[in-house]
Amino acid sequence: MNSEDIVDTARMLVTNDKGLLAMDESNPTCNKRFAKLGIPQTEETRRAYRELIITTPGLGEFISGAILYDETIHQQKKNGTPFIKAITDAGIIPGIKVDIGAKDMAGHPGEKITEGLDGLRNRLTDYSKMGARFAKWRAVIAIGKGIPSRGCIEANAQALARYAALSQEAGLVPIVEPEVLMDGGHSIDRCFEVTEEVLRMVFNQLYTQGIILEGMILKPNMVLPGLTCPPTEKVSEVAVGEQQYQVRLIDRQQEDASEVERTADATVRCLLQAVPAAVPGIAFLSGGQPCELASARLNAMNVRFKSRLPWELAFSFARAIQQPALEIWQGKEANVLAAQQALYHRAKCNWAARRGEYNTSMERK
Ligand code: G3H
Repeated sequence: MNSEDIVDTARMLVTNDKGLLAMDESNPTCNKRFAKLGIPQTEETRRAYRELIITTPGLGEFISGAILYDETIHQQKKNGTPFIKAITDAGIIPGIKVDIGAKDMAGHPGEKITEGLDGLRNRLTDYSKMGARFAKWRAVIAIGKGIPSRGCIEANAQALARYAALSQEAGLVPIVEPEVLMDGGHSIDRCFEVTEEVLRMVFNQLYTQGIILEGMILKPNMVLPGLTCPPTEKVSEVAVGEQQYQVRLIDRQQEDASEVERTADATVRCLLQAVPAAVPGIAFLSGGQPCELASARLNAMNVRFKSRLPWELAFSFARAIQQPALEIWQGKEANVLAAQQALYHRAKCNWAARRGEYNTSMERK
């Protein structure tokens, strides 16, 4: 292993305000997204969609690395050019998802453990020979009644650290993704508490396994209230003439501009508690947030904190970059150009968010 190469690649992935494009949906996940839009779920449609993505003109202006899935890394453009060559020619670093998915965890109802360590050393060697320069492993942590358990957090953190060690041994930068899910009615404070605990455990395990922190990227969730968290009520005093009234105001967290700032603050505060300064970059997953909100939240973090943080705050979105393009494409050749424009636009918005220059007028244009 050449640790200098790993450190250089990790830095390149988060430099120049670019970010990662996650296009590593497993076949079942990709098929599910196609099915919702009535797109046929075949190997050829998945290939055609991925070709649309990687041939988007100018994508490399905003995207530093693309995370592929095993099927995709073996595929070619219609003209026979291997995807991995097309990606590299576009100035984008190819990477690969190497976990084989989150499975029900024995003895822990409602919790998952990510699998894929068996045979990983050989798979990493093969991917490296094919040209991949980084790898990704996703662990999922659910919040609910009595969960996450310590057992689940610890087992997932240990698997992440073992994967990270094997990746660095193979010369690949590990993207370490412990995702605290947005599903549920939990508050933002609960998300903060769980995310902090998970990140502390993950870095504890990474340290134990001797990971070169300068040669990895962290891919966490943002700190957000659960999707079904009820809006909070604020009680305000209002004066009408001489009379004081108490008014209950519904704080619609998803709509209000100060919510964006609150989540930006909570996320950065949480990361500062748990992520060592040696890590070069933090590239968020989008987790199903609406595209524009994901860009606005990343933007708010960079506006408020960029110059004061030890690491870069970047993105590694799948849905928050791809969704509009997929909806436009609908599996039809005639829609390819328009879909590519939508993809380019979202990549640009997130690049702007890294610079603290994103605003909603970019969307109207
Ligand atoms: O592992 C999850 C993906 O890499 C990120 O996907 O941005 O849609 O959450 P997402």
